Amino acid sequence: MKPMVNQVLRHISNTPIELIEYCQEQGIVMEAYSPMAHGEVLKNPVIAQMADKYGVSVPRLCIRYDLQLGMITLPKTANPQHMKDNGDVDFEISAEDMETLKNVDRIEDYGESGSFPVFGGRL
Ligand SMILES: NC(=O)c1ccc[n+]([C@@H]2O[C@H](COP(=O)([O-])OP(=O)(O)OC[C@H]3O[C@@H](n4cnc5c(N)ncnc54)[C@H](OP(=O)(O)O)[C@@H]3O)[C@@H](O)[C@H]2O)c1
Repeated sequence: MKPMVNQVLRHISNTPIELIEYCQEQGIVMEAYSPMAHGEVLKNPVIAQMADKYGVSVPRLCIRYDLQLGMITLPKTANPQHMKDNGDVDFEISAEDMETLKNVDRIEDYGESGSFPVFGGRL
């Protein structure tokens, strides 16, 4: 079988576990684009509180979360220091906290990015 990849919008607050598990069962590699919701997660107090608990930044928590779900993660930054920091994901989110993060309320408004088809749901 040829290797297959499914690249989809995935971040804390937008995690369809059934799709992720289905693809993984079928041997399809999941890739998460916009793991920080194009920056919108940085405004979420629930995610910020969880990041504080682990002593990490929100981007690091978000990247680690996607990695623990077995997804390749595609974060973006134009800031070299952010890039360096974002690579430091050598910590473990507990199973209990993963469940909490899976159930964070969905980001409904992607702000200015909502006008982009991938965030606005309009293609
Ligand atoms: N296949 C598709 O349809 C599709 C669609 C959208 C995106 N993508 C790809 O997915 C990748 C990421 O997408 P994205 O740009 O939407 O969003 P993202 O990675 O979710 O978020 C990027 C934003 O987070 C900020 N950020 C990153 N690290 C940070 C840090 N340590 N501290 C503070 N802010 C931080 C960045 O600002 P700074 O630059 O200031 O760090 C930027 O504003 C891109 O490579 C993109 O090409 C693919």
